[in-house]
Amino acid sequence: MPAVVIIGGQWGDEGKGRTVDFHSQYCSVIARYSAGNNAGHTIMNDQGKFALHVIPAGIFRSDKICIIGHGVVIDPAVVLGEIQGLEDRGVSTKNLRISRNANVIMPWHPIIDKGDELLRGDLAIGTTGTGTGPAFHDKVARTGIRIADLLDAERFAERLRPVIEYKNRILIGLYGLEPLDYEEVYENYLNFGDRLRPYADDTALLVQEAHADGKMILLEGAQGSLLDLDTGTYPYVTSSVPASIAAGGPAGVGLGPTAVEKVIGVYKAYQTRVGNGPMPTEIFGQEAEDIRQGGGGVAGTGEFGTTTGRARRIGWFDGVLARHTAAINGITSIALTRLDTLSHAEEVKICTGYEIGGITINTMPATLWGMEQAKPIYENMPGWGEDVSEVRRLADLPVNARNFVKAIESLIGVSIDMISVGPERDQAIVTRDIFGTVIETK
Ligand code: GDP
Ligand code: IMO
Ligand code: MG
Repeated sequence: MPAVVIIGGQWGDEGKGRTVDFHSQYCSVIARYSAGNNAGHTIMNDQGKFALHVIPAGIFRSDKICIIGHGVVIDPAVVLGEIQGLEDRGVSTKNLRISRNANVIMPWHPIIDKGDELLRGDLAIGTTGTGTGPAFHDKVARTGIRIADLLDAERFAERLRPVIEYKNRILIGLYGLEPLDYEEVYENYLNFGDRLRPYADDTALLVQEAHADGKMILLEGAQGSLLDLDTGTYPYVTSSVPASIAAGGPAGVGLGPTAVEKVIGVYKAYQTRVGNGPMPTEIFGQEAEDIRQGGGGVAGTGEFGTTTGRARRIGWFDGVLARHTAAINGITSIALTRLDTLSHAEEVKICTGYEIGGITINTMPATLWGMEQAKPIYENMPGWGEDVSEVRRLADLPVNARNFVKAIESLIGVSIDMISVGPERDQAIVTRDIFGTVIETK
């Protein structure tokens, strides 16, 4: 069976968690492969409403193996808190495995994350402050501490001492803060290691064995491709290595690229962004506020960050950027989410090109300057003005909603096989399943 990657096609928060929760029914292994707890994936199913930051959204199916791969940076306090929170609500974590080779978010990372943002002043990125970026800095600088180091008292001391001395110089000299106490950090993180020991494993081997056994593996992406270091709106991006695009999927768990045959791109029917950086189709005022509060969709599903609670910036669907992310990821199938949210709108818009300095283009500008100058060219379409959250067949969608979906599909040139009309597991119109089997003819 091929591995399948589920990836965000915009600036994150497209509904990847919700899509993984749905598709995990067909898979044996569900693995996170990149990022850290800067990610926030909301899942609503028969077990309740959950916000996950590092544990894969497959955890709600007790017969599946869930893996946090070596490409993820792990804050031990966050993952242990998430485990406890799930167990307290009756969700078993016995099938959770954590890579011994994953890097650890250490106590200096969130401090540096927030300190660097202050130093950036007007050029702040708007990071989540979770320490994810600085943990990846240490990973590529080869000073990172891995989960395996926390499991070995001697080795941990050897790794920790020089790094903490170096980091304390930064905390004192650059930010004027108190240094971290070596003994305290050592004891705390050794204790975290003890509590994580039952979950620690050679996860690359587990994934490779599952693949060799013909099991379906789902690789759960975090963030969106426009936040990727190379393909996004640099420097207003995240820092994950491996990349926050589909190519990072196999690399972040220990598979080769040939294992991946399917890439499901998750896109919202409009767009959101948290943090700073260009967003050509951004809208403001009441028009944006209506959508931010949940529009005409399912009550209580406003656009506020799962991780930080920040109000998300809102924009119309950007077909130029969607084509770019479909190409970068090799997307073979699309899940379009939050169609219900636009139900209130008299008119809906899709950006089909940009005008920059009097010139019309229909590809993503190569420079940040170009992105900042880009003025969207819209195709305006009539809204559908009725609740769609109970619709389960394409044929039952109002014709204007169908036309809107079709316009997005033909603009990207990839089949939309799932339309999400609400946050709950079953609130979806599925026309083709994960295996490619047609469920409803378009
Ligand atoms: P992720 O980071 O890509 O997993 O997305 P988030 O969970 O951060 O944000 C998506 C939000 O939209 C969550 O609050 C979901 O519960 C919600 N959501 C997902 N799909 C739908 C949908 O089709 N309709 C509505 N109304 N909400 C949805
Ligand atoms: P999920 O997986 C939305 C954004 C931050 C900021 C930039 C850099 O839930 O889609 P970082 O803390 O990563 O250094 O911040 O990236 N960002 C996200 N935005 N969803 C996410 O994850 C994000 N992860 C990071 O807001 O703009
Ligand atoms: Mg999110």
